[in-house]
Amino acid sequence: MLIFSIETSCDETSLGLLEITKTRANFFIKPLSNLLISQIRIHQKYGGVVPMLANREHLKNLPFLFKKIIKENNISFKKDIDLITVTDGPGLMPALLMGVNFAKTLSWYFKKPIIGVSHLTGHLLSFLLPPLQLKKSISHHQLKNFFPLIGLIVSGGHSILVYSKKIGNYKIIGETLDDAAGECFDKTARILGLSYPGGPAIAYQANKYKIQDTRYKIQTLPRPMINTKDYNFSFSGLKTAVLYLYRKLTEKEKKFLIPAIAFEIQESITDVLVKKTLRAVKDFKAKTLVIGGGVSANLRLREKFLEEIQKQKLKINFMPPILDYSTDNAIMIGLAGFFKYLKGTSSKRYYWWKIDAYANKKF
Ligand code: KG4
Ligand code: ZN
Repeated sequence: MLIFSIETSCDETSLGLLEITKTRANFFIKPLSNLLISQIRIHQKYGGVVPMLANREHLKNLPFLFKKIIKENNISFKKDIDLITVTDGPGLMPALLMGVNFAKTLSWYFKKPIIGVSHLTGHLLSFLLPPLQLKKSISHHQLKNFFPLIGLIVSGGHSILVYSKKIGNYKIIGETLDDAAGECFDKTARILGLSYPGGPAIAYQANKYKIQDTRYKIQTLPRPMINTKDYNFSFSGLKTAVLYLYRKLTEKEKKFLIPAIAFEIQESITDVLVKKTLRAVKDFKAKTLVIGGGVSANLRLREKFLEEIQKQKLKINFMPPILDYSTDNAIMIGLAGFFKYLKGTSSKRYYWWKIDAYANKKF
């Protein structure tokens, strides 16, 4: 079947086209298009996403990308599309509503079934996606064997640990009590005068430190809640520690110590994420560790997971998504929508008037 998907929960407008065939033994998954317009440059000067600006940009971008995806794939929406899926939460309401209304209009006009999908489920399942234009075959048996799994979803708005026994069954076992991991990258980058989004900017500076100037040492930053018995996170204390550290520096020190501070921020966040996640993996006897969300694109995080899994001799599948699907994209919404569609009974129609947007939705 051919699935058309829409993602507008934050500052990326993305449309996807995904082909999935289900046979008795296998799923064949082939992403055909994953179009995306990033609004980073628009929000950059404000140091974060401005919801009403995102709303206006989605309004401009959606019809443009729609025409492009139809043309690029040489399809007729009316004849060829089998299912519309759209992110219906969580996210910024003005941003979500744009995608949801666009999807509902298409569903109404072309009389197509439509499914609302959680952005978090999209991130969680994106490890199953092959690169664009490649067809991946996954047997039902293989898919079943990934479970139970532990998922770490770390983005600008979320830091969540989830336990899943099977597709469609998700239990949040830990969450951030204050700032999300991505938010911590973004806010500390802002303190250091680096650009938005902060994650890639901090990673870039941290890399410079490793390469050149290990001479410049700074104090060790805290690893908040790293040893608590629960699976929750907290990152606002780290942000405050960076603020106090930075304020104490002279202008000259500020200039040359930025790579060292960035390095320490990245080490602190990734230490906490890796330690708590692997503890959950062991406690819940998970077969697979999945990571997703913008922060999962962080190479130091991926490297640390690999190192620790080896060091602790854990017999698990470590499944990071390919980098294009770590950050926000519509293809993951197509995939998550497909599995939701499979669970419905054949008589159940998915009508446009059943779809709404939910800013605080989880799974
Ligand atoms: O999943 P995502 O694209 O959007 C949300 O759903 O929030 O995540 C965006 C977040 C931002 O906070 C950004 O700074 C962070 O992911 N991010 C990174 C990296 N790339 C993006 N954080 C650390 N390292 C990266 N390479
Ligand atoms: Zn996201």
